[in-house]
Amino acid sequence: MSYKFISAEEAAKLIQNGDNIGFSGFTAAGSPKAVSEALAKRAVEEHQAGRPFKVGVFTGASTSDHLDGALARANAIKFRTPYQSNKDLRAALNKGEAAYFDYHLSQLAQDIRYGFLGDIDVAVIEACDVTPEGEITLTSGVGNSPTYVRLAKKIIIELNSYHPKTLRGIHDLYEPADPPLRREIPIYKPSDRIGVPTLKVDPAKIVGIVETHVSDGVAPFSPLDEVTMRIGQNVADFLAAEMKAGRIPSTFLPIQSGVGNIANAVLGCLGENEEVPPFEMYTEVIQDAVVGLMEKGRCKFASGCSLTLSEKAMQEVYAHMDFFRDKVVLRPQELSNNPEIVRRLGLITINTAIEADIFGNINSTHIMGKKMMNGIGGSGDFTRNAYLSIFTTPSEAKGGLISSIVPMVSHLDHSEHSVKVIITEYGVADLRGKSPIQRANEIIEKVAHPDYRPLLRDYIKMTQGCHTPECLQKALSFHIAFEKEGDMRKADLGTPCSCEK
Ligand code: COA
Repeated sequence: MSYKFISAEEAAKLIQNGDNIGFSGFTAAGSPKAVSEALAKRAVEEHQAGRPFKVGVFTGASTSDHLDGALARANAIKFRTPYQSNKDLRAALNKGEAAYFDYHLSQLAQDIRYGFLGDIDVAVIEACDVTPEGEITLTSGVGNSPTYVRLAKKIIIELNSYHPKTLRGIHDLYEPADPPLRREIPIYKPSDRIGVPTLKVDPAKIVGIVETHVSDGVAPFSPLDEVTMRIGQNVADFLAAEMKAGRIPSTFLPIQSGVGNIANAVLGCLGENEEVPPFEMYTEVIQDAVVGLMEKGRCKFASGCSLTLSEKAMQEVYAHMDFFRDKVVLRPQELSNNPEIVRRLGLITINTAIEADIFGNINSTHIMGKKMMNGIGGSGDFTRNAYLSIFTTPSEAKGGLISSIVPMVSHLDHSEHSVKVIITEYGVADLRGKSPIQRANEIIEKVAHPDYRPLLRDYIKMTQGCHTPECLQKALSFHIAFEKEGDMRKADLGTPCSCEK
């Protein structure tokens, strides 16, 4: 089969108003760049001509500004799922211009297959190679690509020569059967391979190939500040102590860690802690710190959904593929985040909270209960099923005007039933086996910012004699004080609550 090589603009014309599009990749890694920008341009032209033009956007997770940013600015998004982190898209969905369905990352592919979310009309897939027989080698991120290409009526390939064809073999692609035929997913250790290295599609479905040469554009990490370093150190010290106490096996357990500076600091500190043996990762995003840890022999293996690496780290990996090839595997998010596998492997999971309450409930998604930040991502997939679920957060935000530890979270993503440990720069709150009042004391005394401890102590004194000392009239008093006076320290706790009514 010989394919049609077309421009990004020609590819955009193959997409119709109202189409649902499945985009490859996970974070900026492996997500298409040229077709999405051309599609945004087309939407603007259609709008200028007075015609409606909006598409449904299914991705792996966040993407890059070439995709989410461009389409949001063009007001071209009818529907978006499962996760985003782009500032223009965030603004659009908080204004109600784009409908956003914030979704557990492991679950999207199967729910599309079950028919819950409509058809996939077009799949746009970034590849480093495609054969005449329809074998596609993905690039730095997998996401939901196996499901998107299988279900899509047509496929557009972005053939990106920035990524070398030697990536072939790094992916392990597999789709579980749907119930009632689903069997166990046979991954018993992070390095197990159970699928195939390439996507195989009917070549006739590939309606065009757009050639590009563009990096994922992942920014390097900013230098770590003192608070972030202290959080990383507290996590590493806690895990080393757990191992010494025999609650983590001496061979250690695979680590899942979220994205961003805190995660990078945690990994760095774990790598430097000599009490922690060389470890494996079973995670979503393989980020810069992992590359260095592998080179030092501190990280033995990483299973992930993407190589979300800065240009420098990516070049390091590509220049030494022989070294990294047997240490890295990239899987669909349905496997990298799969609850069955998370529970079986016994993952130590480390994710970030926007705020936590004194009972251990976590808000990872909403600012003041209303505004979407990014989304739940994989944090729910991992937290609920972890061997040991940890949340990290700086104890306060906005220079102290906001306490990250509040009486009641303004939005709930992860409940007290799933969260085992909360860590800030002040220490570690170990919630295992504790009642609500015991958890409240642990969280207030160990991890809340000292400026907020007196207020939080007053709060739990207000309602004595209940299983959970919650005062409904005052539960959101911190948030109300911030909205009214711009400072949570001005929270008005007023008169004590009663447990009787
Ligand atoms: N109330 C209000 N605003 C708050 C806040 C709070 N309690 N805590 C933080 N913020 C603000 C910060 O001030 C910052 O605002 P700015 O952008 O105006 O500076 C913003 O929220 C982000 O805070 P920051 O500390 O920079 O967050 P981060 O980059 O470490 O991201 C999450 C934290 C929670 C948003 C991010 O980890 C996330 O999206 N998590 C959910 C998905 C997930 O866990 N994925 C990983 C699974 S593998």
